Amino acid sequence: ISREGSNLVRQVHEKQSKDKSRQRFWELAGSKLGNILGVENSAEQIDADTSLVGEHGEVDFKGDAQFAQHMKKSEAVSDFAKSKSLSEQRQYLPVFSVRDEFLKVVRENQVVVVVGETGSGKTTQLTQYLHEDGYTKNGIVGCTQPRRVAAMSVAKRVSEEMETELGDLVGYAIRFEDITGDNTVIKYMTEGVLLREITLEYPDLDKYRVIVMDEAHERSVNTDVLFGILKKVVARRRDFKLVVTSATLNAEKFSNFFGNVPIFHIPGRTFPVQIMYSKSPCEDYVEAAVKRAMTIHITSAPGDILIFMTGQEEIEATCFALSERMEQLVNSSTRKKVTNMLILPIYSQLPADLQAKIFQKAEDGSRKCIVATNIAETSLTVDGIYYVIDTGYVKMKVYNPRLGMDVLQVFPISQAAADQRAGRSGRTGPGTCYRLFTESAYRYEMLPQPVPEIQRSNIMNVILLLKSFKVDNLLDFEFMDPPPQENILNSMYQLWVLGALSNTGSLTRMGLKMIKFPIDPGLAKMLITGEEFGCVDEVLTIVSMLSVPSVFFRPRDRAEESAAAHEKFFVPHSDHLTLLDIYRQWEANEYRDDWWCSKHFLQVKCLRKASKVRSQLLDILKKLEIPLTSCGPKLHVVRKAICSSFFHNAARLKGGIGEYLNCRNGMPCHLHPTSAIYGKGYTPDYVVYHELILTNKEYMQCATSVEPQWLAEYGPMFYSIKDSDTSLLEHKKRHRDEKSAMEEEMENLREKQKQVEIGE
Ligand code: CDP
Ligand code: MG
Repeated sequence: ISREGSNLVRQVHEKQSKDKSRQRFWELAGSKLGNILGVENSAEQIDADTSLVGEHGEVDFKGDAQFAQHMKKSEAVSDFAKSKSLSEQRQYLPVFSVRDEFLKVVRENQVVVVVGETGSGKTTQLTQYLHEDGYTKNGIVGCTQPRRVAAMSVAKRVSEEMETELGDLVGYAIRFEDITGDNTVIKYMTEGVLLREITLEYPDLDKYRVIVMDEAHERSVNTDVLFGILKKVVARRRDFKLVVTSATLNAEKFSNFFGNVPIFHIPGRTFPVQIMYSKSPCEDYVEAAVKRAMTIHITSAPGDILIFMTGQEEIEATCFALSERMEQLVNSSTRKKVTNMLILPIYSQLPADLQAKIFQKAEDGSRKCIVATNIAETSLTVDGIYYVIDTGYVKMKVYNPRLGMDVLQVFPISQAAADQRAGRSGRTGPGTCYRLFTESAYRYEMLPQPVPEIQRSNIMNVILLLKSFKVDNLLDFEFMDPPPQENILNSMYQLWVLGALSNTGSLTRMGLKMIKFPIDPGLAKMLITGEEFGCVDEVLTIVSMLSVPSVFFRPRDRAEESAAAHEKFFVPHSDHLTLLDIYRQWEANEYRDDWWCSKHFLQVKCLRKASKVRSQLLDILKKLEIPLTSCGPKLHVVRKAICSSFFHNAARLKGGIGEYLNCRNGMPCHLHPTSAIYGKGYTPDYVVYHELILTNKEYMQCATSVEPQWLAEYGPMFYSIKDSDTSLLEHKKRHRDEKSAMEEEMENLREKQKQVEIGE
């Protein structure tokens, strides 16, 4: 199944580009901000916070002050919440009935695994119980979340339950944002934040009395690394407690990892779920899901519907098709009144106020139909779901060795995930789950458990952090499920290419500096080399702009208008420099936010976020005593700095408009039509790019022209001038030889270390 796999998605796209009914759909779906959803999103992100530096790519509509307002609005929605005070609501949660038993188990054990249904109160209550039981007298209670949006919203909720300002007794920390203070005793944070704290500042986590590792079953790379590190902390610090919460699926495994620690069950209130399989494999799951939802709506008893899709595009298409069919239904039925259907999309990139809509009660007996990514599998719980439609697929980030990068791809889900999805329909009463796959596919084709991320993705960041944590031999680190050796070596090789690791695999001075920045190694290198080139100011802005979601606002129904507006900023040689230009103009307009930005079709929130990121990175630069130099008008220097840190992403002109070939592996890659370089009468022979995005083609995102001499100078392990045109094969061979030489050297070193250990 590919993204082209659904006819329905394609049809909807064609329609949308032709008519304005899209606008109408968003009105139907009750969204005033429908336009925002029209933003073309070439870099669609996975619905999880998965990378080590924390929180890549998630659109940060949630990260600003408006977020809190949206949450406030959405809260007082259910009837229950309206009628009960916060403290009454707390007592009603399933976890409340076992509060004392829980505290007893924690008192008697250093590590406890807690299992409970979503919505039973684990995330909001356990930290408060620990606080009430005195664990915060000398230290704080930390709680990690795989998703940043969860860290923020839960901290807000708990601060209200404890009647304190957010940032006072209760706070949160996510990448680039720390809302905690001296008084803070309960701190919610992303796993990435805690990992950086441990590896860079407090190896023994002295200030924490308890860590609650929440939603550990998500098994992000960070979860797995934290497991290994926290196990050591537990052994060193007798006064330290660890609580691991998990969905049922992994509890045994977690308990075993920490030496058969107790598993504490929170009694759930769940109802039986009837499973209905497809009789034959379905060709177009989007179409099948739409049909199924309509059938339920017409023929089945009241109760809301939850549909699982893999990403934004499919979700939009599904919502669109559903609204169309509802319209047809209304028009065709003359006598009977058709029950209304409230169609609600939900995925992590959706602006917070639209996300909040899924929690609102449908009026006048309408039926809600929520179309979600796997964000609704465990992280979000909506009451009143009686029907689940499961496509059986999920979008995951997987390392693709051919491309040498992580790629988002659609995969079948695991049995465990299918069961979790089905369970979502049995929370309010007996439910039904329609699986759009066959029973034999479930039994014989699906894996029992999902493959943990650490076994399927690039782990450069992890390696860098572990190295700084003095884990010299990564193959000895205690992973619950070790990453494949090839994965480790590949990532180490990439770090070596960037100059972060020496030939023997130890951290270089460059590597040591790189870790100080909570950004990807390539970007960190760009910042650091900015010093050498005397253009720190310029690269700092560019790096900040690359660390936030795209600032370009491209509503689909105003494509030409917005493209023309953007073009005014274009710097002919470079998308990077275009970003710099935009930021500077925004600054020069004294941050004259909204009006200026909307005139130029720019996302003001992203620019503000970039400015926040910039000032934090600037703080780190100051600590490292790197001065804020500027190259003035000599902007080719900036291109050199970009080239010196992204030479591994170089491409050579093939001919045709915007058609390039990757210099290292000959893969075709294309300039995006929205690039500043694309078709402007100036086509550079060589470019480097920030990243490759796979949609219907391989697109280079954010490209800058470079001189071939620069490539040879900064990337001598890949390029040299003489054979630049002649033999790709030779390149490849040299590439392989160098890589295996480095691996051999590291292998020798490891052998030596082992011998020393044995000798001792
Ligand atoms: O972690 P778990 O899924 O077990 O439950 P929780 O997140 O602690 O949520 C318990 C209850 O708190 C939910 O049923 C919601 O009613 C409420 N809650 C909320 O109103 N707002 C939030 N941001 C989080 C939870
Ligand atoms: Mg939770």
